[in-house]
Amino acid sequence: MNNFVFENSSKVYFGEGCVKEYLSNILTSYGDKVMLCYGGGSIKNNGIYDEVVSVLTDSNKKIIDFPGIPSNPTYSKVQEGISLAKENNVDLILAVGGGSVMDCCKAISLGAKYDGDIWSDFWARGGVVNFEPLPLGIIVTAAGTGSECNGGAVITNEELKIKTGRDYPKLNAQFVMLDPTYTYSVPKFQMVSGAFDTLSHIMEIYFSEPDESNVSDDISEALMKNVIKNLRVAIKNPEDYEARSNLMWDATMAENRIIKLGKKTDFQCHQMEHQLGAYTNCNHGAGLAVLHPVYYKHICEVGKKKFAQFATNVWGIPKDNKTEEQLALEGVNALADFIKEIGMPTTLKELGVEENINLKEIAESCFIVGGSYKKLTHKEILEIFEECK
Ligand code: NZQ
Ligand code: ZN
Repeated sequence: MNNFVFENSSKVYFGEGCVKEYLSNILTSYGDKVMLCYGGGSIKNNGIYDEVVSVLTDSNKKIIDFPGIPSNPTYSKVQEGISLAKENNVDLILAVGGGSVMDCCKAISLGAKYDGDIWSDFWARGGVVNFEPLPLGIIVTAAGTGSECNGGAVITNEELKIKTGRDYPKLNAQFVMLDPTYTYSVPKFQMVSGAFDTLSHIMEIYFSEPDESNVSDDISEALMKNVIKNLRVAIKNPEDYEARSNLMWDATMAENRIIKLGKKTDFQCHQMEHQLGAYTNCNHGAGLAVLHPVYYKHICEVGKKKFAQFATNVWGIPKDNKTEEQLALEGVNALADFIKEIGMPTTLKELGVEENINLKEIAESCFIVGGSYKKLTHKEILEIFEECK
């Protein structure tokens, strides 16, 4: 294991009914003005808005409503939220939604306590958060990103066409509520895309050095198998509580920093997808589904030992007399087959990307930090994009 420092300050409340059971008590620790942030309105159709508002009202909180956070949240929406939080001298930000709402709210909580431009000081380059952001609470309604238990916020700067994220531990939410039944109403495509995002996070960590025996990789293998098994169940029956609760916790476990401990991590596929998203506004998990198999075929040779381990330990492919190369490739093919099985897109065309899009410009806009088995060049990124057509 490599050396590490571990910190995760978010307190998690998990299970059916947790909002009704705990939220009013939690709210007593905060001031009167609560900024209630959400997306395009799904929470008004599924009853979550009414449930949360009734707890806030019974707790005598003044609600400052902040609706309309879009998927792939934009810097302009973040700025709108910062202004509202400052004007109203808000005491607590309550994010109710999926990754987009959570990420937007983390950036708002930082900007509400900062006078400069947070994009240039904290997203364009890494900054130091040496002050306390506005307190943030999260009620998750869509599982996948794992944003609920980290300080990461992925924001799209539309003007610059850059989508990027940073993980600042001070941006971890103070409390997180995970009720799996809140995710029942998530449309099937989004449910699958979220679960694939979770699987992708685990793979981006697992396929990185060190590869010697380590507890992080062992947990990752268990988590990958759990996502695969429970996604299959949830596709058949979206209201299977066991499946939805496993998928919800898998998502958190993948991104609460635990399985990253002692690992270098990769995340090049995420960086490619983020730039694809900056140019096309594509769905995050679906974009990853298109890119992953092609990317892994590119790095398979360099990381063959681990890809072979993935084939046997995650997909149960027998070793027989196969070479490491053969097994490694079978592992990547099993992943590609799974992506087809769960109905995710497998090409840029299926993802809805226009044929005449300038892939070279997108490839060149990818600012690759990290990488593990092989650091990609812009030429290789373009090759990967072209192969995804
Ligand atoms: O906007 P509303 O109307 O709420 O609808 C949303 C949205 O259309 C809908 N939805 C959410 N909960 C629902 C529901 N519909 C019905 N019932 C419910 N209970 O789902 C749609 C997608 O929501 P969104 O939050 O955009 O999806 P997701 O959770 O996949 O988040 C994606 C964003 O997170 C970023 C992605 O890049 C993307 O911008 N990521 C954040 C990470 C982090 N901070 O750690 C890591 C990830 O790798 C990722 O990059
Ligand atoms: Zn992701």
